[in-house]
Amino acid sequence: MKIVVLTGAGVSVASGLKTFRGATGVYNEADVSRLSHESALRTHPHEFWKFWGAMRGEVNAASPNAAHYALADLERRLGPDDSLTVVTMNVDGLHHRAGSTNVLELHGSLVHSRCADARCSDDRHRGRFVDEALWQDSAPYCCASGRPRIVRPDIVLFGELLSPHVWTAATRAVRNCDVFIAVGTSSTVAPASELVKKTSYRGVDTIFVNPDVPIGLRHFDRKIVGKAEEVLPELLASLIPAK
Ligand code: OAD
Repeated sequence: MKIVVLTGAGVSVASGLKTFRGATGVYNEADVSRLSHESALRTHPHEFWKFWGAMRGEVNAASPNAAHYALADLERRLGPDDSLTVVTMNVDGLHHRAGSTNVLELHGSLVHSRCADARCSDDRHRGRFVDEALWQDSAPYCCASGRPRIVRPDIVLFGELLSPHVWTAATRAVRNCDVFIAVGTSSTVAPASELVKKTSYRGVDTIFVNPDVPIGLRHFDRKIVGKAEEVLPELLASLIPAK
């Protein structure tokens, strides 16, 4: 069985992290939308890092929950003809920390940083590197290219494109899957919200898991009302039972 699970912010709520939307979502806080746009790197670098550094601090302090572990356990139970691809919009790295290895991070990773100059000549800053620093007092800069360029979290900001390599891998996995599950997402942010449409007309079992299921979502066969950390362990065990 070939399984794709698309995860959103709701999957990390039981780890103590906030969603983006909803009554307690981070987008209710002043300026967050502005600081989530790529232009903030140039116009407000200090405020940018104050916000994203604080978010990184919360991510560093969080631990995976039952939903992350259920996905990692499923990966370990796969047989020779099975596959599991976790496609996540989350930047918290908790799927990897739980033990999942086949994870496509559509919106990048807050656990990593990189020089804003893609052609940076400094080996330390070119490409992503693990960065635990919060940069709350001053934004970090790399000077390898002659003029200072900000070192930024390796996330996809508004105004930026997804990595074509990651998106191609995600669409390929969805086109070949037998089961598609979307969990913990409001299904409002494209292109991730469009992934389910790539299963159309192939008899794929499409399942939506969320404590508040919005109306619409006609591409999903089944809608399960519940929390990721409570629903996923049983749902995933029913797909490929433990031996
Ligand atoms: P949202 O904040 O839009 O939606 C989170 C969803 O999680 C909501 O539908 C909640 O009902 C649901 N939820 C809350 N608690 C849950 C639980 N315990 N179990 C399961 N679901 C729960 O987050 P996303 O859909 O992930 O992009 O947002 C997508 C993107 O919007 C993010 O990746 C981010 C943001 O702009 C970037 O930063 C580029």
